[in-house]
Amino acid sequence: MTAPLKHKDTTVVEVALGDRAYDIVIGRDELASLGARMAALRPGVRTAIVTDKTVAQHWLKATEASLASAGIPASHIVVDEGEGSKSYAGLEKVSEALIAAKIERNDLVVALGGGVVGDLAGFAAAILRRGVDFVQVPTSLLAQVDSSVGGKTGINSPQGKNLLGAFHQPVLVIADTTVLDTLSPRQFRAGYAEVAKYGVLGDEAFFAWLEANHNDVFKGGAAREHAIATSCRAKAAIVARDERETGDRALLNLGHTFGHALEAATGFSDRLFHGEGVAIGMVLAAEFSASLGMIPQTTATRVERHLAKVGLPTRLQDIAGFAQEGLADADALMALMAQDKKVRRGKLTFILLEAIGRAVIARDVEPTPVRDFLKDKLKA
Ligand SMILES: NC(=O)c1ccc[n+]([C@@H]2O[C@H](COP(=O)([O-])OP(=O)(O)OC[C@H]3O[C@@H](n4cnc5c(N)ncnc54)[C@H](O)[C@@H]3O)[C@@H](O)[C@H]2O)c1
Ligand SMILES: [Zn+2]
Repeated sequence: MTAPLKHKDTTVVEVALGDRAYDIVIGRDELASLGARMAALRPGVRTAIVTDKTVAQHWLKATEASLASAGIPASHIVVDEGEGSKSYAGLEKVSEALIAAKIERNDLVVALGGGVVGDLAGFAAAILRRGVDFVQVPTSLLAQVDSSVGGKTGINSPQGKNLLGAFHQPVLVIADTTVLDTLSPRQFRAGYAEVAKYGVLGDEAFFAWLEANHNDVFKGGAAREHAIATSCRAKAAIVARDERETGDRALLNLGHTFGHALEAATGFSDRLFHGEGVAIGMVLAAEFSASLGMIPQTTATRVERHLAKVGLPTRLQDIAGFAQEGLADADALMALMAQDKKVRRGKLTFILLEAIGRAVIARDVEPTPVRDFLKDKLKA
């Protein structure tokens, strides 16, 4: 895979879902094209922008300007930033505001923000008047390469994350790579874990390209656009094959069974961002694969080395306060993994590796070898 040398024009990736197919538009300053693209898609449309406080500060004006230039009437709803807004209260606030803004069946809701806003606004659109279409304008790296594509929307229950939701595909995704310039470096890194994931699970050449070009991806520019487009292509292909996760889509959960347990153990707090949990989880999945003899240890080390190189945590011991609060206990982690949506009759589903670029779904993994493996890791 060769590195692009200069900024390209817009890249468009299609998510091929028949009459619900849509485009992911990737490129610098693409936010300016939002209004024209929406007007072309749906003449006479009205819209409400759902966003969070931080994103509003940086990007609401530009979004409104783009819509205004295309003559699209727009109101906005601003929620608090952070996972707390993906709640019943957040859903009520957004839904009531959408009704008050008189958003009707033919209108479009615009989700302007990271994964929290995308999941929340998408779900509100899914249930508003039994379904109003929506547009994703992802503003975090994680949202651009993962959460804005594929149609999973929802909120958290006090009993668990993402337990309430709906499949509701957007009609358009605009990934403006320039908006990532205001994202914190730590948030950018966390999103990068999902970028690397696409290489590890299905594309060795992309992983090797990231090993060589990660500096430029972080700096911005053509390498960043290439990384985002490649990630979106990978996700779009999997979603088109398996929209409802009855098969292949589960591959996207590489690193997530371990990762979710770690996020739960740290209370879904700022101590461990989702992508950081995925980074550690991906290394654990690789090492677990090695312990089962599926890959040589050197392959697991290669995954770890790359993630550590960009500054991501890769070991359980990298989590702040890790030893103090039961995280250091294999049984506690096993109990947290048992709450995962992917558990069936006490057996766990893991995404394991046969090579970098070749992940496989291992259903019905017995808990004992996992527990032994974790005990081992915790001793290290
Ligand atoms: N639907 C899916 O398929 C899917 C997939 C993965 C994750 N998710 C969900 O996504 C959420 C995580 O998404 P996230 O990491 O984007 O979190 P997030 O939406 O909370 O965004 C992270 C932080 O970055 C800020 N931010 C976002 N864009 C910014 C920008 N351009 N400039 C400055 N600040 C900016 C936000 O205000 C927030 O404080 C979780 O709730 C997770 O469950 C959903
Ligand atoms: Zn993820």
